[in-house]
Amino acid sequence: FTDNMRVLLLLGLVAFGLADLTRFEGEKVFRLKPVLDKHVTLIKELAKSIEVDFWSPESAELVNIDIDVDIRVPAMYLDMVYTTLQQSDMEHEVLIEDLQSAVDGQMDNKPSPRAHSYTKYNNWDNIQSWIASISSSNSNLISKQVIGNTYEGRPMTVLKLGKTSSSTKPAIFMDCGIHAREWISTAFCQWFVKEALSTYGSDSQMTSLLDQMDVFVLPVFNIDGYDFTHKSNRMWRKTRSKRSGSSCYGADPNRNFNAGWCTVGASSNPCSDTFCGHQPESEIEVKNVADFIRRNKSILKAYITIHSYSQLLLFPYSYSFSLAADHSELLKVADGASAALRSLYGTRYTSGPGAATIYPAAGGSDDWAYDLGVKYSYTFELRDTGRYGFLLPESQIEPTCEETMLAVKYIAAHVQKNL
Ligand code: ARG
Ligand code: ZN
Repeated sequence: FTDNMRVLLLLGLVAFGLADLTRFEGEKVFRLKPVLDKHVTLIKELAKSIEVDFWSPESAELVNIDIDVDIRVPAMYLDMVYTTLQQSDMEHEVLIEDLQSAVDGQMDNKPSPRAHSYTKYNNWDNIQSWIASISSSNSNLISKQVIGNTYEGRPMTVLKLGKTSSSTKPAIFMDCGIHAREWISTAFCQWFVKEALSTYGSDSQMTSLLDQMDVFVLPVFNIDGYDFTHKSNRMWRKTRSKRSGSSCYGADPNRNFNAGWCTVGASSNPCSDTFCGHQPESEIEVKNVADFIRRNKSILKAYITIHSYSQLLLFPYSYSFSLAADHSELLKVADGASAALRSLYGTRYTSGPGAATIYPAAGGSDDWAYDLGVKYSYTFELRDTGRYGFLLPESQIEPTCEETMLAVKYIAAHVQKNL
């Protein structure tokens, strides 16, 4: 390489917009297993002194005894982390040896530009054109409406699936992609729409569901964040809003709903990954969805929100340990849905109320919808349990979506029976 060639290469990278792409060479993802108070303290101190990205749970405040803690550690801090771990004799394992290789390995190497595909992780441009084409080619079963724009001005489109009817039908609302880096979530909403359209008329359950009810699907909730994970930083979680007074971007949309807002399991620090926002619904995406749900409150019977990872099926409450008024029914349906999911490939899910099953965390959409009166309110945490975490390979999109369909259809069938 001559110096001239170096300069040209650099210019090339800048021109292709690759220069602002965050890379993860040498970074590792650890699973820590704290069993003593001093382990918990140590993890919290580590989080204060170095830059740690919490994968599960989502922030240091949520760390507790006896739960696995998955963290991403930048290469420059590895020595320090290893030394600390050895000194404290906390049990741990390395989940991902080299994060950049895992990021590179997540997508199949297919020729680019990549067209929309149900078995790939589609970028926002492809999803947007998919929304346009799927809703225009199936006008008897699907329609679309824009519920508002994101912070950066992208249209948030809700797809309405269901047999056209002269009277208003009871409905289910489902969203994907509240958190930007949870790509399998976004893939599921697209899969669900495809399955609904292609099995209506042949699958008796889907036919009856779409005859009797409408299903509103928001394919990507946090579009700005999702776009950012494709273009700049694969590990981004929050929205992309910006306020003067802090140099940090975004709030956690699933801490920004008006349900025990910012009381527990959320941060008031704008730089935290679980920042609750400066007030409930400060994030325009959250406000748009909350407005839509409020407007349709009288017909909405179920709220389903799709996240990853951990293989959980959660229901209210997360902002408190008190049991929901409908606890036993919600649990029974969750257990049935998990069993249906498991019947396909043996994938095991844990179900229960959020606070007791993982950790208390306020401001979530599930609790908010439930308290508004949408009884069947569920949060899915899809595959896996940490082997790949957010970097679930594309080869797992199809099996993950197929098994999740069974769980969602189980919930929908129960809702239908109890209209
Ligand atoms: N992992 C999800 C989150 O932290 C779980 C959501 C459960 N519901 C809740 N309201 N916290 O956002
Ligand atoms: Zn999430």
